Amino acid sequence: MRITPSILNADFARLGEEIARVPSADALHIDVMDNHFVPNLTFGLPVVERLRAATTAMLDIHLMIEHPDTWAPAYAEAGAESVTFHLEAAAAPVRLARELRARGARAGVALNPATPVAAIADIVGEIDLILIMSVEPGFGGQSFLDLVLPKVAAARRLIGGADIWLQMDGGIAEATIERCVDAGADTFVAGSAVYHADDPDAMVRRLRALAEARAR
Ligand code: DX5
Ligand code: ZN
Repeated sequence: MRITPSILNADFARLGEEIARVPSADALHIDVMDNHFVPNLTFGLPVVERLRAATTAMLDIHLMIEHPDTWAPAYAEAGAESVTFHLEAAAAPVRLARELRARGARAGVALNPATPVAAIADIVGEIDLILIMSVEPGFGGQSFLDLVLPKVAAARRLIGGADIWLQMDGGIAEATIERCVDAGADTFVAGSAVYHADDPDAMVRRLRALAEARAR
């Protein structure tokens, strides 16, 4: 069970200090938004390059951008260990996944709530992470969408025993993580739950403990 805190709800004026507050994280989830694929704008490659220089933590990049075929490989070249693009935005997902792997990154594919898992059934051998959005992407602090849980279960059946991480993102908190484990997820983004907690690192450990206990 992996907990990957999203810095979307961190203080962007103090990012270095903010990422240092979650040493127990399995990876730092970095939400890149372009104001086109989603109606919000965060940061891009220059900030990710500075984060890369600032930490040895695994960087898990979530690209909520148009034209990922053009922009995603540079995040792998910058040293991110995992780069996830949205299936809805990719022109050639197989080619892009291969380009990410060739640059040493895990290749992730994200699915919006309305996108079925069947859309990636034939390309699952090309990817290392499936991200199931449990909110519409663009903002932190939204309510968890239970309607995606059957899709998580479908993704788990598709993955079987392969080394493909099954990540969920959106509304993950103490109240929702156990039903995600039940559906088969093993990797959890938590933004507001972690960064609005009094002790963010304690919340990372709490969420992991809940998930691991539920998985037994
Ligand atoms: C939303 C982002 C998420 C966001 C999650 O589009 O992809 O990673 O930070 O925030 P919470 O955990 O608050 O839903
Ligand atoms: Zn995200």
